[in-house]
Amino acid sequence: MTGVRALSLLLAISACTWHPAVQAQPSPQVQERITAAIKAANSTNIDYTKFVNVFIGTDNYGDVCPGASVPFGMVKFSTDLTGYAPAGYVTDNTQTIRGLSPLHDSGTGSSLGTYGNFEIMPMLCPGGFNTCATTLATRERFRKNNTDEASPGYFSQIMDNDIQMEATSTRRAGLERFTFPKGSKPYFVLDLSNDLPASFAGGTMDIDPVKGRITIGGLWGSSFGPGSLNYQAFACYDLLDGGKQTLDDSRGKLIVLFSLIGDQYESGALFSYSGKATQINIRVGVSFVSTDQACQNAEEEVGDTSFEEIMAQSVALWNEKLSKIEIDVPNTPANVTELLYSSLYRASLTPNNATGETQGVFAGTTHPYFDSLYCSWDTFRTYYPLMSLHSPVEFAQIVDNYIDGWRKNGWMPECRANNLPGWTQGGSSGDVIVGHFALNYHNEASELGIDLGELYSAMLADGDINPAEWDVQGRQVDVYKQYGFVPFSVLDSSSTGRQTREGSRTLEYAFEDFAIRQVALLLDKTDDVTTYSNRSLFYRNVFDTSITSDGFSSTHSLHVSPPSALIDSPFEDFAQKRYPNGTFFFTDPVDCSPNDKDDSRECSLQGDNEVGFYESSSWEYSWFAPHDTAHLITLMGGNNTFVKRLDHFFNAGYYLAGNEPSFQTPIGYHYANHPSHSVDRVRQIVFENFDITPAGLPGNDDQAAMATLLVFHLLGLYPVPSTTQFLVLSPFMPKYTIHNSFLNSSTTVTAKNFDQRSVQKTIPEGVAAYVKQVTINGQQTESRCHFDFYDTFRLGGDIEIELVPDGESVDNCAGSLPESLSTGGWSTIR
Ligand SMILES: *[C@@H]1O[C@H](CO)[C@@H](O)[C@H](O)[C@H]1NC(C)=O
Ligand SMILES: *[C@@H]1O[C@H](CO)[C@@H](O)[C@H](O)[C@H]1NC(C)=O
Ligand SMILES: *[C@@H]1O[C@H](CO)[C@@H](O)[C@H](O)[C@H]1NC(C)=O
Ligand SMILES: *[C@@H]1O[C@H](CO)[C@@H](O)[C@H](O)[C@H]1NC(C)=O
Ligand SMILES: *[C@@H]1O[C@H](CO)[C@@H](O)[C@H](O)[C@H]1NC(C)=O
Ligand SMILES: *[C@@H]1O[C@H](CO)[C@@H](O)[C@H](O)[C@H]1NC(C)=O
Ligand SMILES: *[C@@H]1O[C@H](CO)[C@@H](O)[C@H](O)[C@H]1NC(C)=O
Ligand SMILES: *[C@@H]1O[C@H](CO)[C@@H](O)[C@H](O)[C@H]1NC(C)=O
Repeated sequence: MTGVRALSLLLAISACTWHPAVQAQPSPQVQERITAAIKAANSTNIDYTKFVNVFIGTDNYGDVCPGASVPFGMVKFSTDLTGYAPAGYVTDNTQTIRGLSPLHDSGTGSSLGTYGNFEIMPMLCPGGFNTCATTLATRERFRKNNTDEASPGYFSQIMDNDIQMEATSTRRAGLERFTFPKGSKPYFVLDLSNDLPASFAGGTMDIDPVKGRITIGGLWGSSFGPGSLNYQAFACYDLLDGGKQTLDDSRGKLIVLFSLIGDQYESGALFSYSGKATQINIRVGVSFVSTDQACQNAEEEVGDTSFEEIMAQSVALWNEKLSKIEIDVPNTPANVTELLYSSLYRASLTPNNATGETQGVFAGTTHPYFDSLYCSWDTFRTYYPLMSLHSPVEFAQIVDNYIDGWRKNGWMPECRANNLPGWTQGGSSGDVIVGHFALNYHNEASELGIDLGELYSAMLADGDINPAEWDVQGRQVDVYKQYGFVPFSVLDSSSTGRQTREGSRTLEYAFEDFAIRQVALLLDKTDDVTTYSNRSLFYRNVFDTSITSDGFSSTHSLHVSPPSALIDSPFEDFAQKRYPNGTFFFTDPVDCSPNDKDDSRECSLQGDNEVGFYESSSWEYSWFAPHDTAHLITLMGGNNTFVKRLDHFFNAGYYLAGNEPSFQTPIGYHYANHPSHSVDRVRQIVFENFDITPAGLPGNDDQAAMATLLVFHLLGLYPVPSTTQFLVLSPFMPKYTIHNSFLNSSTTVTAKNFDQRSVQKTIPEGVAAYVKQVTINGQQTESRCHFDFYDTFRLGGDIEIELVPDGESVDNCAGSLPESLSTGGWSTIR
């Protein structure tokens, strides 16, 4: 849940009451087509793109871009809608279209939107050239209800004037196709200045009437970062379709440039076509380097290739990504197939690959480059661990991009937005991401282009070197080291940044320190292992034993019986922010939770966020110590109280499915030796929060953090970041195979006794769904609660998860619990 620029997330949910529009988009044919494809699927020649619903997350603040894109494409063609539409498109049919544009991001929470530069708008202008409505406000149009169409590599909209706009793309270029009603004359406005956040800071448009080419270049601002910074972007529009189309020159000029300055700059080009053509093809290239490079990108990536061929190439690229996970389609519930492949699609949609398109300090870098990392606090938990399972080559490129941030800036990026440094949310979560890579692929690191020495130096810079300004990179590390926590209201003479979120920053810094400790252990840096192991336990320093919240009753929603002891006192020990002298600053653990009665409380990046937690309550964030949950259990009063507190957390409504600090909480029961409870809880939260409709995400996709969380839930796995451990749960499908084409390994997971009836919110009595036993290539595992990447997906082979109906009979790990530092866990590196 990346924070919106000036609006707390909780406010966004509670203050703007959401009235869903009458469902009129997308076209009902989108779902009909997917349903038919799933029904028809057999084991030969599967086209996985046909299972993908790109509209999931385009309503209910999902902020997903359904536009035409290749995997990790820099170009994502989508229309830009009015209202709250950070990714350009939303299904809400009360909003109007401003134009079609090539640059977008997917799953980012900026309230103002991100990119949307270089909009083109087709129009009819029945009264002729001089009557065309050219400004943003006047050119907006409604869509025809029930007509929006899109699929991987393709996007189409029909406006209420019957003009259809279609697009398909390559990494940095693409084709737009406009179909006008018969007998009409095609007019277009091409916008120079407007982007979604209205951040234009100057630019130029050049017109070559002979070539039929318009080039645009300019400066715009970030959607989630300091407003003082600008990025450059360029586009190249070729209007003649290789000479098959002719521009209108009835006015003596091929193209007229207009320039209107009202509240904001409005400038661009207006042009029309001669002849009887009703279909117009326009080729577009983009670049972050120059207009020349934008034109070259269009020439090299598209050339004179047809719309259909570019689309087919895109579909082939998508199938290569989507087929990394294969399932038994006929025996998998249809909604699960659609959810899985739609989520896997988004898991390769971002970050946008802008390699070779660098600017600022990255200009001319020889390393891979991605234009946004939006933000690491969101993606370290599930996004990169999923990529790590099957795509180490792509993962290594992104890791190299993080390290390049350290090479160029001295610290790794935390949140890059629109090529610019974005706001830090937790600390330096990039440490966890590169740490996860190192732990999982240290044997192959150099082959994958990663120097582990450099990777480690980058982590140490984040962990040890205080930046002058930690709002955009690094951490407030001097005072953190001095006090053992991030103190509230401290006179910090060594750095500046927003003095808020001291509770959650301490919890995140401690986990980032654990990531550094893991790589120190890997590289035999003995002293650092001691230092960073110690620092990784600093999370304990913000727990205030004197805080209590909420009593609880003995009622439980899950049908698996809770442990017997009933305690009727309130829960104790919650994370709190702390003064430098050690005194805790009291904030109610309920504050900033969904149960907070004060709608106006600031909970995000605002300077007057007083609670001490980022977009969360203390109720929610106090679960966060993924490397040492065993001690958290002790802090909270033992296993029974811990389980009751988890139950209460969910039943009383403190849980926020769409918020990253909550990602691992439903599986917390594993650590208290109650894995069947985790199975029940995951079924419940999946069915309460995710589905195949446009509103089917519990909030912002956060560059597919949410998509990849759902993938893990469906697979019956959960990763512990910066380790190689997976927690084992109950798959939502009978069988899946994960291919890792770099390691040349294929691993098939079979859910023995799988029963489709278990795939619902509450597992019915007598239906097999609980994990009794796990075998890896015929060998039973020591524990049924967890296994390791080095014993499973790295090697390939067969994993069998045997399911039984009686959850209670198997509600313990029958072996070791998942690891925690304080109980001797994480003692060796695989
Ligand atoms: C499997 O599906 C493909 C593509 O839909 C189809 O052409 C083929 O006939 C099917 N094969 C069988 C055995 O049903
Ligand atoms: C779309 O349908 C809604 C009712 O659901 C209606 O109010 C609106 O006018 C329709 N829009 C168009 C462009 O026909
Ligand atoms: C990014 O683009 C570069 C240049 O085309 C390519 O080599 C690389 O494989 C791409 N990376 C990803 C993750 O798509
Ligand atoms: C961490 O180090 C500090 C300072 O050396 C020491 O006081 C503390 O006991 C250590 N904590 C742990 C958990 O080892
Ligand atoms: C610690 O500092 C705070 C803020 O200045 C103050 O209110 C509190 O009384 C101090 N605690 C002690 C034990 O001195
Ligand atoms: C919780 O239960 C586990 C497994 O039975 C046990 O090892 C652990 O010591 C218990 N934790 C506490 C704090 O009692
Ligand atoms: C599949 O999802 C749709 C849309 O959420 C829902 O109406 C339908 O009941 C689901 N089907 C099953 C079998 O769960
Ligand atoms: C995977 O297989 C390819 C082609 O057979 C081979 O070139 C490559 O070295 C193998 N990779 C590993 C990690 O074994």
